[in-house]
Amino acid sequence: MSGPSCEGDDDFDLFDHRHTQALNETARRWRRESPVTRIAPDTHYVARWHDCWAILRDAETFANGNGFKAVELPDDERMLIEMDPPLHPPLRRVVRTAFARKAVEAERPFARASAARLLDELTARGRSEGECGIGGDGDDAGEVEVEVELVEAFTDRIANLVNFHLMGFPIEDTPRIVGWAREILHSDWPALNRTEKGEGIAGAFPEFARYVDALVDSRRGADSPEDLIARLVRSEVLGRPLSQTLLRTLVSQIILGGISTSTNLLGSMLHRLLTTPALHARLRAEPALVPAAVEESLRLDPPVLFVRRVCRRDAELAGTKLASGEKLVVGIASANRDERVFDDADAFRLDRGLPRHIAFAGGAHLCSGAALARLVACEAISAFVERFDVGELELVPGFVYEGVPVFLEHGPKRLDVRVRGAD
Ligand code: HEM
Repeated sequence: MSGPSCEGDDDFDLFDHRHTQALNETARRWRRESPVTRIAPDTHYVARWHDCWAILRDAETFANGNGFKAVELPDDERMLIEMDPPLHPPLRRVVRTAFARKAVEAERPFARASAARLLDELTARGRSEGECGIGGDGDDAGEVEVEVELVEAFTDRIANLVNFHLMGFPIEDTPRIVGWAREILHSDWPALNRTEKGEGIAGAFPEFARYVDALVDSRRGADSPEDLIARLVRSEVLGRPLSQTLLRTLVSQIILGGISTSTNLLGSMLHRLLTTPALHARLRAEPALVPAAVEESLRLDPPVLFVRRVCRRDAELAGTKLASGEKLVVGIASANRDERVFDDADAFRLDRGLPRHIAFAGGAHLCSGAALARLVACEAISAFVERFDVGELELVPGFVYEGVPVFLEHGPKRLDVRVRGAD
């Protein structure tokens, strides 16, 4: 049930990425005029920062339910973000052990070295003729010029490499994993838990499911490494060990959760650097500002545009009455530009101080991988501005920005660039 402040907005389709990724102007109006807007018969979009925050920190009233899945999920096919108590808190505690501050910080040298190596490989492609990414112009008077697609060649890889290194998974599987992740996240599965091939991860992506099951089985023996999967395998929740299906679901989330999100963050940052030479020059001159740039990118270009909650009981938000069972879209992208919280909210600024954005959500489901994502982004961007001066790497002439074809994500689908540098 909704009060008078809640206008309908039937034109907006939450599951259409062309609508969700072009929401800034509409969201500005909603923040001003209709902070809780009905976008479907049983769903409201929440536009203001304070209301979003109130929802995130009150898991008693606002449950995660099925997340974005349009179907009721069996318990053991729920990822952490699709769980509520009593299952969620104990499983979250186990998963969090893998992302302890010390363990994440220990990844910094590997992240730094991997980023530098991947960027070196971009220019190396120009030196070895015939391996020119999406095409190359060859060597001209001592200059190397080659065209490369950065999402495939850099952002996807660095995100997955560091995640796998931290988890102790086989690094050499990165290209396969990245391929699966794209296929899964761009399919109907995120919304429907199925594809035309079948139900759940196992039915829809049998090859990926077998890969994950093998990882899990390799942790069952007495000589297994002491890592996150081994801890999950040994865990008991509500007096029972975790089923093979639940283990597969949780490990899949750890694998998938880190790839497209970190890729989107890095892709948006690189796109901003490539289109704002002054920012590139500033970060190159003052690399200590890179963490502030990462936070500002998370605020203005959040890789996850919104999360979903369900009212467990009747509630009221910004004067709008909500009935038990009604769904809420917590508008991360809108909240992060809320003029009530951020001065000059649409501007990219490096002097904002403590981050108040909600790109990693908050409360009971605050992103477990936030510290890792920040570390990867800082190391990758630092390596990028150190390796390339302004103009050494440019978007190809006529490049047209296209967003990822996923309704809840934001980031460039591809970044075609031309790399220049002395041979
Ligand atoms: C820039 C990168 C990332 C962004 C923007 C992001 C965003 C989010 C958001 C918004 C949520 C909350 C979902 C909800 O409340 O319904 C979440 C949860 C989660 N994320 Fe991330 N994430 C990122 C990177 C990662 C990485 C690198 C990993 C792991 C390798 C990861 C693992 C998780 C897990 C396990 C949860 C579930 C937490 C829970 O429900 O208790 N994320 N993430």
